[in-house]
Order: sequence, then C-alpha cells, then structure tokens
Amino acid sequence: MGLHFQVIGYPVQYSLSPWIHGEFLKKADLNGTYTKNEIEPNKLNEKFEQIKAEQIDGFNVTKPHKQAIIPLLDELDETAEKMGAVNTVVSKNGKWIGYNTDGIGYTRSLENKYPELFSHKDKNVLILGAGGAARAIFHALDRQNFTNIDIANRTKETAKEITKLKSKQTNIDVLTLREAEKRISNYDLVIQTTSVGMKPDINQSIIELDKVKNSTIVSDIIYQPIKTKLLQQAEEAGAKIHFGHTMLIYQAQAAFEIWTGKRVEIGEMDTQLQQILEGR
Ligand code: ATR
Repeated sequence: MGLHFQVIGYPVQYSLSPWIHGEFLKKADLNGTYTKNEIEPNKLNEKFEQIKAEQIDGFNVTKPHKQAIIPLLDELDETAEKMGAVNTVVSKNGKWIGYNTDGIGYTRSLENKYPELFSHKDKNVLILGAGGAARAIFHALDRQNFTNIDIANRTKETAKEITKLKSKQTNIDVLTLREAEKRISNYDLVIQTTSVGMKPDINQSIIELDKVKNSTIVSDIIYQPIKTKLLQQAEEAGAKIHFGHTMLIYQAQAAFEIWTGKRVEIGEMDTQLQQILEGR
C-alpha cells in the first residue's frame, strides 16, 4: 500500500522532484513512493490512461505537458485556470484535479528568506521576462497585494498580456529590457524569470546591474548554475540575492500539501539541494 506519486515530463531524467518528495515523505512520516515517468509529447493521452489504471495518488507535471494535460483533467483550480498551466495533479474522489503551485512556491521561498518584504507591499518590483514562470509569479505577487509590479520583456506585447491577470489597482509599467536597465535603481526587488544565463550559457545576463541599489533584492529563478551571472553582478554591486532552487523546494512543498494535507518544514533541504546541484 502506501502513497504513489510521480513526475511526468520529457525529459525527466534529471528531475530533482524525486529527491525533494522523498525527503518530504520521510519528514511527514508517510509510507510512499515518488517515481519519474518519462512521457513523449505524443503519448500523453495513452499514458494518462495508464496512470489512472495504476491508482496513482497524484503527480507533478513538467515540460512539455503543463498545458497539454489540461483537457484530460476533470477540474482545475482557479490559479491553474488563470495560468493555463498545471504543475500538480491530485486524484480526489475519483476526479483528477489540476493545480499550479509555481507562483505560491516562489512567494513562499522569498518570504522565507526576506520576510520583511512582506510587510511593505508597496515596494517597487520588477519582473524580467513574460513566459509561464513570469505569469505565475506576477499572479502570486498580485494576490498577495503587492501594489507596484513592472514587467520588462524582449517582446513588449507578451508582457502586456500578463497585466490582464491583475486583480486590483496594481500599478504596472510594461518596459523593454533596456528601459528596465536604465531605471534599475528604482526597484527594491528584481525577479529574473527567463532562461538567459542558464547552463551552458552561464556568461549571459539579461540586463546590466551597475546602477542597482544596495538594498535591492535580486532574485533569479534559474538554479543551474546556482549563482548566475546576474546574481554575481548583483553581489558585486552590493545588492542582496535570492537563489532559484528555493522556488523548486517550495513549489514542491505546496504540491505535497495538496496531496497529503501536510505542510512539511524545509529545514536544511535548501542547503542540501544546493550541494546536490553544485555537485552536478
Ligand atoms: P517559461 O515557461 O519557463 O517561463 P517561456 O514561456 O518559454 O518559458 O518564456 C521565456 C521567456 O524568456 C520569455 O519572456 C522570453 O522573451 P520573449 O517573450 O521575447 O520571447 C524570454 N527569453 C528567452 N530567451 C531570451 C533571450 N535570449 N533574451 C531575452 N529574453 C529571452
């Protein structure tokens, strides 16, 4: 018996989720397994039927299935619906329900490291990029009542799409990357959400940070490498930094909570995951 979880994606070979959820199962004192299920893009329908037959309790969804899984599910929670993307599925009373924990995972990771930010929701926030991750993060910050969130992207039109997610009088400027670079000293929190700077292109950086303030927090959701060029530049300029692998842990924490009803403490897992990634 016990619980059975999976991650589905293509590829999933290097997924860190089996390690993360393995630790969570131990911490929660639950008997269970978490396995990788590599599913080619054109096999999703067929393999989802197998998952149903195997009585899996829940699964995580990663690229390229985050959108494609939606029509196969019975229900979507509100956030997943707004995102148009699912990263967590639970089987509940015979129904398959899709969630998206990326945004809440990000804000939890940020609050854990910089709790003071969450008592000043009028701080000036800049999101770099306008893909799926940027959408999830914008939505979570807006829901947590941050009031000043600008978005800069290579393609301005895509950034404008994200502003439609706002739920209240959030002040938003849509910028080009160069415009954002010029006014970087206005921001208290800068969140890099694109793949620019990811291994193997570790010498790339989406904007220059020479004019960033000392008090600014610069966050990069890339976790390979742990310390991207952007984060190195931020440190050199005297700013504070926030690592991307922490989002990975907290989005998993929120998924585990959906599956089991238990919120596990992260404790040393942040440092342990950093060591695993640095050893790769
Ligand atoms: P994800 O779902 O992981 O967020 P995505 O949806 O493919 O990824 O989004 C990629 C983001 O990275 C986009 O904001 C993209 O900019 P465009 O909207 O202009 O395409 C951005 N991006 C990717 N490569 C980039 C590069 N070389 N320079 C600047 N931005 C880049």
